[in-house]
Amino acid sequence: MPKEASVTIQANLDNLYRAVDLMFQKNTDIALLPENFPTEGLGDQTTLEILAPHVFGKAADLGSPIALAHMDPPTLPITWAATLWNASLNQNLLHPATSPFASSAEEIVINWLCPFFGMSGGHFCSGSTIGNLTALWAARDQKGIKQVVCSVAAHNSIEKACKILGIKLTKIPVDQDLRLRDPELDLKECCLVLTAGATGNGAIDPLVYCGKAAWTHIDAAWAGPFRLAPNYSYLLDGIDGANSVVISGHKLLFQPKDSALILFKDYEESRRYISLGGNYLARPTVGVQGSRSANAIPLLATLMALGRNGIAMILGQIMSNAENFYQYLVSNSNFTVLSKPVTGITIFRPNHQMTSDFLAKLPQGMFATFLYEDKEWVRSVSANPKADIPTIISYIERANSIK
Ligand SMILES: Cc1ncc(COP(=O)(O)O)c(C=O)c1O
Repeated sequence: MPKEASVTIQANLDNLYRAVDLMFQKNTDIALLPENFPTEGLGDQTTLEILAPHVFGKAADLGSPIALAHMDPPTLPITWAATLWNASLNQNLLHPATSPFASSAEEIVINWLCPFFGMSGGHFCSGSTIGNLTALWAARDQKGIKQVVCSVAAHNSIEKACKILGIKLTKIPVDQDLRLRDPELDLKECCLVLTAGATGNGAIDPLVYCGKAAWTHIDAAWAGPFRLAPNYSYLLDGIDGANSVVISGHKLLFQPKDSALILFKDYEESRRYISLGGNYLARPTVGVQGSRSANAIPLLATLMALGRNGIAMILGQIMSNAENFYQYLVSNSNFTVLSKPVTGITIFRPNHQMTSDFLAKLPQGMFATFLYEDKEWVRSVSANPKADIPTIISYIERANSIK
């Protein structure tokens, strides 16, 4: 490379570092919030002027070109509009009479998505923790399940659900890729929970076990949306043999919180076990929540605006970012990589310094951490389609060269 070109590139990088460092610095030059609950209101305009720099200036920027840290993607702008509509209307999915269009929007989205997972119906809920609880509630009451089996890498919401429902939980070890090992148990009276996209490293448990238990639930909070992308759909082959599937809208469907879907193989039957009436209700409410927001509307807007190809394109970008980053790590003797980014998550650590020292030299929010076998690892989650891998790599090289 000519010397002038490399000088220009270095100057551009230095500017970029400065800009990003500034972004992460605490801005102390903004109006303070009132110390106490004001007796007289400040008014809308003043309140928004005071609050905006706090809310925007001090938020984690999930769509920053160097953010590769958490399972929380930046949301799509179309969802901002739909969410404002929702806030202004405040519809309640508790009953169709209080949400005539929002209830049909929910039905439309569920009907569009169910066939990808071999499910017949379901409903929205505020997150996959609630979705997992709903599924295990149905399993317990519809099939008399008294024992749940999952891997040690399953999300803690499975353990929470078992505690709440009074179900025994058995955790099975994982293989070197952190996937559930052969349970070697008689599952005929158990509910088997398989994770599609483990929280730690994104691993997908072997879905060949679907249907081997009295009830199979798939926690596809993270990886579920890959089923919509023709290039990655194969990752979830076998999922249609499950009895229930949970998918987060607020993860890889790029929705604002709180958005998740719980789907059932036989919804007609399952909903009877997870619906309760009350003398103040015209008809029973389904699921764990009482009031539910119209969070199907932002997702409906997303599916309409992007179509299946648009969603597949964003997921493709996420996967190619993860793959490029992984290729950099495995070709560099400074790092040990724990697992491949099967669903966009890569776990690695620096070979010549402590993980905590390495992370301290990087901007906050670039990566997360992961504890595995008593060691701290770096966890990079490709949830941000705007992540710029060459820039992230240049930060890493700088962190490696600083003593
Ligand atoms: C695999 C898995 N299941 C369930 C959950 C819980 O989802 P939520 O935070 O939406 O309740 C998570 C959250 O990260 C997850 O990764």
